[in-house]
Amino acid sequence: MALRIDGKRLAADVRARAAAEVAELAARGIPCGLAVVLVGDDQGSATYVRAKLRDCEQCGIPSRDFKLPEQTTQDELMELVRTLNDDPGIAGILVQMPLPRHLDAEAVVAAIDPTKDVDGFHPENLGRLVRGLPGLRPCTPAGIMEMLDAYGIDVSGKNAVIVGRSSIVGKPMSLMLLAQNATISVAHSHTDPRELARICQSADILVAACGIPKMIKGPWIKPGAAVIDVGMDRDEDGKLCGDVDFDSAELVAGAITPVPGGVGPMTRAMLMSNVVMAAKMQHG
Ligand code: GUN
Repeated sequence: MALRIDGKRLAADVRARAAAEVAELAARGIPCGLAVVLVGDDQGSATYVRAKLRDCEQCGIPSRDFKLPEQTTQDELMELVRTLNDDPGIAGILVQMPLPRHLDAEAVVAAIDPTKDVDGFHPENLGRLVRGLPGLRPCTPAGIMEMLDAYGIDVSGKNAVIVGRSSIVGKPMSLMLLAQNATISVAHSHTDPRELARICQSADILVAACGIPKMIKGPWIKPGAAVIDVGMDRDEDGKLCGDVDFDSAELVAGAITPVPGGVGPMTRAMLMSNVVMAAKMQHG
């Protein structure tokens, strides 16, 4: 039976470390403010934003909450980003995605000062990741690297398979594992479905980030593998589940993250740690 990786406990540790650093920086007169921008009325996004603001409060990070109407124009949003870029009290800027369809998300992300890009989505930060340079990293893969490290799961020389190739998770995840000397395979929606099980079976570290409920089954998993489930899906009964079929997977895996209580809490905690890193970068 697999060891359960406790994302909730690790996230609490990450938040505690961030809170201590926020206090230290504040004592030196360095502000760690986070601006959170939400455009429109998407209920899911509003829930995520509330959770992020709560985390800020817990870590002593002063947050500013910008709720903009659905009809906000590109110019208005770009102007807000520029104002926040120039505000010395703001260390981090987060524009909640997805944006309403009439807005150009790429242009908004590119307009954020890369040292304030606490999501790690800016092309400069992604470029830094590709080049192996220090910079702000996307929260989900950064949290997964922390989890692997905390549980002593060494990735060097291991086979890592990532299922999913999003810019937020799959691609940066593959680069971070590669930077730690793993051998990387990325499977995605165009991977031959007859090959998928075999590819997954080669994984010492399997990261499921495809958004399909319970797609990865126990028999696809190499005995003893570390299985990291990024999914936040609903099963046929409407119950929260991951991209991994947990019940069959935990019989085979060596370690596994549950949903909920695995990757999700760590993603949120890494945002706090990115705000601290951003403040430090801006103030030497
Ligand atoms: N929407 C879903 N996940 C995220 C995230 O990590 N950051 C932002 N800004 N929006 C999101």
